[in-house]
Amino acid sequence: MDGDLWYDVNRSYEENYERGPFGAFADALHRVHAPEEADVRKDETCGGERFLGFPVDGVFGIPAGPLLNSRFTTAAFAMGFDLAVYKTVRSRAWACNPFPNVLAVHPRSSDGLLDPAVAERGESVLADRHYERPLSISNSFGVPSRDPDQWQPDMRRAIHAAGPGHLLIPSFQGSRVEGMDTRDYVDDHVRTARLIVETGAGLMEMNTSCPNEGRNRLLCHDPHLVAAICEAVKNEIGDRPLIIKLAYLDSDDALETMVRETAGRGTVQAFSAINTISARLVDDRGRQALPGSGRERSGVCGHAIRGAGLKMVRRLAAIRRRCELDFDIIGIGGVTGPDDFDAYRREGAHAVMSATGAMWNPGLAGEIRAHMHPRP
Ligand SMILES: Cc1cc2nc3c(=O)[nH]c(=O)nc-3n(C[C@H](O)[C@H](O)[C@H](O)COP(=O)(O)O)c2cc1C
Repeated sequence: MDGDLWYDVNRSYEENYERGPFGAFADALHRVHAPEEADVRKDETCGGERFLGFPVDGVFGIPAGPLLNSRFTTAAFAMGFDLAVYKTVRSRAWACNPFPNVLAVHPRSSDGLLDPAVAERGESVLADRHYERPLSISNSFGVPSRDPDQWQPDMRRAIHAAGPGHLLIPSFQGSRVEGMDTRDYVDDHVRTARLIVETGAGLMEMNTSCPNEGRNRLLCHDPHLVAAICEAVKNEIGDRPLIIKLAYLDSDDALETMVRETAGRGTVQAFSAINTISARLVDDRGRQALPGSGRERSGVCGHAIRGAGLKMVRRLAAIRRRCELDFDIIGIGGVTGPDDFDAYRREGAHAVMSATGAMWNPGLAGEIRAHMHPRP
């Protein structure tokens, strides 16, 4: 079931970056450059929605990750995705983890879902090359980035290529390198946000589900530090909406503290939830599934995290009600069809995104659009 992948998991990240997208997305990109075909896309737009103040045709998209550059984001729009997040960039060039970067993941539970608490305890999960439905995968890229000299002009192209009703959302994260203290780390976020503003972006997403102080400590596990970073970034970007991307957070207290100290202070306008759930991946002989040190654990996404994603959105919506705050929620995790889109919307998400589901089904946006606006 990996025949028509626009991000081809059987090729290296570099090859995907240089030659992708493939399959249906490549065809769509080709059509963008043929004006008579582009008109067809216009007829299909529904219009009427707003997202963080921007007019959009709809509120379904692809989150940070598989859209590596402007060719991918432009193709995503042409395939009917309304929101396209440009893969997370950094203040400096950053290498990708060695190939392979994606494996199929097979949780043991009968419903194929991964319990975040069980994954946290370090219970092993089988990972191999057998991609089956319902599909769960692991992605282990290490959040690579081009140098700003390269990604800035490309991000500018991506923004310009977004037509009416499309929204290009740049994603970024800080880079903790040796010798940096907390002040430097905060500054690194601010500097990267400034580089994004220079591309003409009207909003941006900051990934807080990245390692901080050790491999299994994520930045979002420290709500006070996230709050300090958001305040500094917001000072830099002014009125442009700031979205923060969260991992699954187990503690209600930590989540509420995060929300109060960010959205409650006006520094954050939306939360994207969730990023992947870290699990210990093994092959069929119980050995580490991904080669190399530091890759005993890797992020799981797709069907396995659907339950956790819905739960995070539900808890964020409850905090929004209880604290009488005004922010948007972008529901992410295991979306593979219209029912999942509806489920996230029912829990309180304004927008919904799919990475794994969209990678294996380039027509997903069309299916969701047809479901929301059935033809008479
Ligand atoms: C190939 C791939 C690369 C990803 N890279 C990033 C990234 O650079 N930044 C980020 O915030 N999330 C990244 N993610 C996580 C997704 O944005 C998303 O949160 C996660 O995959 C859950 O959604 P899904 O179940 O629809 O895949 C990546 C996911 C995939 C599949």
